[in-house]
Amino acid sequence: MSEQTVRFGVIGCGLMGREFASASLRWLHLQGNLPRPAIIAACDTNQANLDWFRRDPDTKYFYNDYHEMLQNPEIEAVYAAVPHHLHAKVYGDVIRAGKHLIGEKPFGLDREAFAEIQRAMDEHPDVLVRCSSEFPFYPAVQKMVEWYKSGAFGQIIEAKFAIKHSSDMDLKKPINWKRTLSANGEYGCMGDLGIHTQHLPFRLGMLPVSVSARLSNIAKQRPNQDGVLVPCETWDNATLLCDGTNAAGDEFPITFEMKRMAPGCTNTVEYEIYGMNFSAKFTSDDPNAIHFTKNDGQEQAWSRLVVGSKPAFPVITGGIFEFGFSDSLLQMFAAFVAELKGLPCPFACFKPEEAQLSHRVLTAALIAQKEHRSVAVSEIE
Ligand SMILES: NC(=O)c1ccc[n+]([C@@H]2O[C@H](COP(=O)([O-])OP(=O)(O)OC[C@H]3O[C@@H](n4cnc5c(N)ncnc54)[C@H](O)[C@@H]3O)[C@@H](O)[C@H]2O)c1
Repeated sequence: MSEQTVRFGVIGCGLMGREFASASLRWLHLQGNLPRPAIIAACDTNQANLDWFRRDPDTKYFYNDYHEMLQNPEIEAVYAAVPHHLHAKVYGDVIRAGKHLIGEKPFGLDREAFAEIQRAMDEHPDVLVRCSSEFPFYPAVQKMVEWYKSGAFGQIIEAKFAIKHSSDMDLKKPINWKRTLSANGEYGCMGDLGIHTQHLPFRLGMLPVSVSARLSNIAKQRPNQDGVLVPCETWDNATLLCDGTNAAGDEFPITFEMKRMAPGCTNTVEYEIYGMNFSAKFTSDDPNAIHFTKNDGQEQAWSRLVVGSKPAFPVITGGIFEFGFSDSLLQMFAAFVAELKGLPCPFACFKPEEAQLSHRVLTAALIAQKEHRSVAVSEIE
């Protein structure tokens, strides 16, 4: 295999493992000479999911036990996309095997699980560890980043970050591991969806200081695979209202919405930043565009700027065309490889210190819900 590849193993060949395989085989799409991730090894306990990887021409090693995979010296890096209760053990083992890791959200089932991963990182500071989060790589969102960094917004009035699904509105939808406490954890929808709402503000330095929470368990039962109704214990919807601050010292509300029951939404991501000089909003329902308005003190008119396909890592697609979900994943994996190889990385993947903050915010939200009060993030170590 050429030196222009990074030799990857994938642990968890489900929905997201396959997305990575697809991105790795679409590397020609990127301009420049960024080394291509070649998935030489795949691991899954489910044989059918593992066998899917036989379609990947790079994959020559197949494992049912990831411990065996980690002994393979050819593997340089791992993408792990497994259920949340396995994150701490699997990520820790990957890092201790000296393999670079791009893991998945929520990066540990809870704060204690994250601390376990942190211990492995402390023992292996030479290993690059990042968490998957693709939506900030949309060019329209990058436009927002550019405007924010330029100071265009002025004093921040308010910011809102949301991701909303509706497939759970179908009460006949069978329960899966993402809807069980044992595999998905106490965070419920916040564990699944939280990082999608946090990557952008955390990276911009918009930090929640205190958290109030409204968490709802709307569907308390769901059918299992045999059609028998079983308890569905996880939170379906979460709205967090936070006191926020930024590097300029502005004080403003930040709202995070993570919803599995949002009528009409598919995987709708919404990022909105309102400032005294300038405001901007993005929705994945209109993925190529960003809406913005300038304040002249009297009236404000919203404009829609079509950004098109001009991502951080240039691609062969003309700038006039559309950008989509699989493009954002390609960009995210490009960012991981660029960082790994010490190459310029205009926007980096979600970092462990951001994952730690994410856990503190989500833990604060659980306490806020339980105790009906606003919880300072500083209360959570
Ligand atoms: N970035 C995103 O947009 C996004 C989207 C969906 C899910 N995710 C995250 O990806 C992760 C996986 O979610 P998914 O939707 O791909 O789930 P999935 O259920 O489709 O896939 C998980 C896979 O892990 C396998 N697995 C379970 N235990 C294993 C073990 N011990 N060793 C090896 N494989 C094992 C399962 O058999 C399954 O194939 C989660 O952390 C989830 O939050 C991220």
